[in-house]
Amino acid sequence: NNYALIMAGGVGSRLWPLSKSEKPKQFLDLLGMGRSLLQLTFDRLAKVCHEDNIYIITNEQYAGLVQEQLPNISSEQILAEPVLRNTAPCIAYAAHKIASKNPEANMVVAPADHLILNETSFVDAVKYAFNITAKDDVLVTFGIQPSRPDTGYGYIEYDKTAEGLTEVIQFKEKPNLEVAKQFLAEGGFLWNSGIFAWSVKSIISSLGKNAPEINGIFENIQYYSSQEIPQIAEGYQVCPSDSVDYAILEKADNVKVLPVQFNWSDLGTWKSIYENKEYDFDKNAVHGNVVTENTNNCLIKVRDGKLAVVKGLENFIVVDENDVLVICPKDEEQSIKDIYTKIKDTV
Ligand code: GDD
Ligand code: MG
Repeated sequence: NNYALIMAGGVGSRLWPLSKSEKPKQFLDLLGMGRSLLQLTFDRLAKVCHEDNIYIITNEQYAGLVQEQLPNISSEQILAEPVLRNTAPCIAYAAHKIASKNPEANMVVAPADHLILNETSFVDAVKYAFNITAKDDVLVTFGIQPSRPDTGYGYIEYDKTAEGLTEVIQFKEKPNLEVAKQFLAEGGFLWNSGIFAWSVKSIISSLGKNAPEINGIFENIQYYSSQEIPQIAEGYQVCPSDSVDYAILEKADNVKVLPVQFNWSDLGTWKSIYENKEYDFDKNAVHGNVVTENTNNCLIKVRDGKLAVVKGLENFIVVDENDVLVICPKDEEQSIKDIYTKIKDTV
């Protein structure tokens, strides 16, 4: 009865020029591990459910890339979206499709772009959650101990004296910096990992209550028939765009959190890549042929066949990829996304 959904539709524009719309980060071997992030996510989920029960949802332009990187899955397991509508429709689509096959199913939802170093702890956490979601009407999220007031995450207020799976007091998606700082100072908050577990029954009932417009679209599709693709195409055109965090988790009253320590990191930014690479003596993480002098805390990546000489630089990202070179202070890397968005049609 156990199923998984991998969400792999984002463009990852904060990691430009490495990640871009032709080949987003989930399809890249970002850390030099020999497998792309999508493949690593698939391997990990294959430890909690059968490979035939792992679905991947992505934009239709990446369906071919998914099939190429995961050659053993059937085309039924790739849910192709005609347009991006954020994560709430992804989950609605997959939940209804799985429920049409197995109404008693449990599902775990995971983004394709996370790094999890302690897989045993991940597998134990998901199995523990499935034992509960199989019988109780709860939506489980996995919570990470926060280490900084990051505004890119969802925050979960919980009873920190309780053990194991705990009631969520408040769920706040992407607070501003002031609020995030306050949460950290107060204590009793976890980051939302963006990984969830629930039964298809529970999530469909919650979508019906909290996101009826989205739910209505996916309720009436004839899954696993020749009608599915045209009906989905039509449905997506009118589907509102919303994330599961705003549409469901901030509103539902049956959300619980399981604090976990599976050594998680969201490889969303250059800084997070830097933190997961090995440093040299000057705390530089370099990739390629790089000579540094008087240079500290930098991430420097050059393509094969090129030599980079860097002198007197501190706290910078230098990435040379194909025909693009980006040089940006590490603390201002959030602006890479905006710059990429502005110029993407011209590069
Ligand atoms: N198929 C598909 N279609 N996938 C999508 C879409 C879409 O329209 N939009 C986003 N995704 C995928 C992304 O590729 C990513 O793997 C995952 O869904 C989550 O979306 P993000 O856009 O990366 O969300 P976020 O990082 O801003 O926030 C979420 O994750 C944080 C942890 O990394 C939230 O759940 C936060 O609360 C959480 O802290
Ligand atoms: Mg993300």
